[in-house]
Amino acid sequence: MDAADKRVNGDHGETPGEPVVTTRRGSMYLEEETTKSEVFSCIFSLKQEVGALAKTLRLFEEKGINLTHIESRPSRNNKEEYEFFINVDSSCSQALDQVVVGLRTQITGLVHELSRNKQKDTVPWFPNDIQDLDRFANQILSYGSELESDHPGFTDTVYRSRRKEFADIAYNYRHGQVIPKVEYTEMEKVTWGTVFQELKTLYPTHACREHNRVFPLLEKYCGYRQDNIPQLEEISRFLQSCTGFRLRPVAGLLSSRDFLAGLAFRVFHSTQYIRHGSKPMYTPEPDICHELLGHVPLFADPSFAQFSQEIGLASLGAPDEFIEKLATVYWFTVEFGLCKQGSVIKAYGAGLLSSFGELQYCLTDKPQLCPFEPEKTSLQKYPITEFQPVYFVAESFEDAKERVRKFAATIPRPFTVRYNAYTQSIEVLDNTQQLRNLAENINNEMGLLCNALKKLE
Ligand SMILES: [Fe+2]
Repeated sequence: MDAADKRVNGDHGETPGEPVVTTRRGSMYLEEETTKSEVFSCIFSLKQEVGALAKTLRLFEEKGINLTHIESRPSRNNKEEYEFFINVDSSCSQALDQVVVGLRTQITGLVHELSRNKQKDTVPWFPNDIQDLDRFANQILSYGSELESDHPGFTDTVYRSRRKEFADIAYNYRHGQVIPKVEYTEMEKVTWGTVFQELKTLYPTHACREHNRVFPLLEKYCGYRQDNIPQLEEISRFLQSCTGFRLRPVAGLLSSRDFLAGLAFRVFHSTQYIRHGSKPMYTPEPDICHELLGHVPLFADPSFAQFSQEIGLASLGAPDEFIEKLATVYWFTVEFGLCKQGSVIKAYGAGLLSSFGELQYCLTDKPQLCPFEPEKTSLQKYPITEFQPVYFVAESFEDAKERVRKFAATIPRPFTVRYNAYTQSIEVLDNTQQLRNLAENINNEMGLLCNALKKLE
């Protein structure tokens, strides 16, 4: 497959060989070679004064550095400044070190180095605003139509070409677009209907109360029915109105780092295809039954949405070993979590809520149950092709969120991050101006709270 270097262009009329300069406005996308594994990036701020950028670019020129990408925007930290984001390729990394020193000493104190290459002592690249998810959406580990030889649809050419149709929809999708509607075939609807009906009988007794509270709403507003496979776009709109979560079609398997980064923006990467009809109660990979029956109902719950986002925020800029730990925490919560509800235990993990067999098994006395403690949970090994021998039980989503937050504080990174829902971007809290802005926001909210309390008295 031609790799993920086909980007939707903004109409910026760039000259070949020169860096693409663009300001971020509306839906403008960037052309860049994202298949290069070793791209070094850096963000720096400059005061609004004549010649500041030219002076900076001269530093790069003097060291013979070719910028492969540059973009600018008004600084979120300081109204008097602009921020610049640049990419250079790995052959320039040494020279870039020298330029960064020059930038820090001669021009501006604010320079963040980011890298997709883990050898350098820098923070791994992470998306800064929600449109940045387009940059890695197609950096997939395997394309959705590439099936393993033991996949139920491996020898079915019709199924394989159908899988390619779905993968292509996701491959061409960009943030802000409407997710294309899919006409599912009668056969696909039958498969969905079987799974839907079987699982629905178990939910009242096995699913957590949040899942059971949202499910009827999905039936009412999103077309959840035995004879209908709901559309991602409709569900995404519903979720946005509940918690701000949204769905985004994905063309294949994302890395843990990229997948978790989506959660930081309340974006869930979702498959759109359905499992092979020969085995309706089995799928070797996530499919639309898993996403819509397992994941979606919980993303409509405010506490769960916040908990999921917390895992995503913890992953931004985290070293590889912590990404692995967070992916394990994700596995034992969002995928296979159990939680206490009064005196009983119920399932909230999507892997359980979308598996007729495991949903029953997980609440028997066969598996081992442990309390959810991220430090310990993150180290637990797990099988991926059989029922889990160990599950972790959360006291509540609020409690689980607090625990993840404390766990995130142990991640070695030189900053704290916060999601700004107005700008749909990540704020890196590493300077006094950012902290002052945050304090001002909290102050405003406190004022609102006090006023509301007074009116109730
Ligand atoms: Fe999942």
